Amino acid sequence: MHTIVYDNPDQLARSTAEKIIGTVEHNPNALLCLAGGETPRLTYRYTAAIAKDKGIDFSAVQFVSLDEWIGVSTSNTGSCYYFLQQMLFAPLDIPSANIHFFDACAVDLDAECKRIDNIIGQLKDIDLMLVGIGMNGHIGFNEPGVAVDQAAHTTVLDISTQQVGQKYFLENTALQKGITLGMAQFMQAQTAILLASGITKAAIIKKALEEEITNAVPASFIQKHGNAFVMLDMAAASLLQ
Ligand code: GLP
Repeated sequence: MHTIVYDNPDQLARSTAEKIIGTVEHNPNALLCLAGGETPRLTYRYTAAIAKDKGIDFSAVQFVSLDEWIGVSTSNTGSCYYFLQQMLFAPLDIPSANIHFFDACAVDLDAECKRIDNIIGQLKDIDLMLVGIGMNGHIGFNEPGVAVDQAAHTTVLDISTQQVGQKYFLENTALQKGITLGMAQFMQAQTAILLASGITKAAIIKKALEEEITNAVPASFIQKHGNAFVMLDMAAASLLQ
């Protein structure tokens, strides 16, 4: 695990964008899994801008969902899909056939998990998985206590996740459950990036990186990942030894 600390959120975002671009330059057929959430917003803005500037072809890149709020449709502005569509898929002209996202309104959510597991299985391992960290140490919707050998699954969300999640929505929204790739898929990704920015993430970053590896803090498993980068700004890294 490599921990890299940047002076400010702008440098953090620029370098993370360059890592995404570098992955695609190296492998134009890459399979990417990119988190929603506030943290990577600037990273994606830079990714789209650098790709346009350098003329990087994203047309053969495949994208798989990290997570989604169950019951929230892709047209809801708070959905992970909507966010990525706005930030990356539309600006980069990604063909819809290359976008493999959870339908969080599906009647049979177990079948939906299997569908996404199968797509990953058919394509290959995820080349680059970029995740944020929840205030409780979650990755995607792998909440504290998760069985870490799982692939895609549904879960009841922590109260803290339900409350924090309201920030993505225009109106109060029921967010009791989530659908997510599992920790097994995170650990198998060729490259994993954990991105965190701001003082509010400092305490959980310290716990995840410097304390024991435990499913009580799912992000702590990044310590065991074979090729992981923890990319932080100074504020998020401020409690690290
Ligand atoms: C959310 C999402 C995660 C996200 C994390 C951090 O609940 N399920 O995929 O990475 O929590 O979000 P943010 O970047 O907004 O702090």
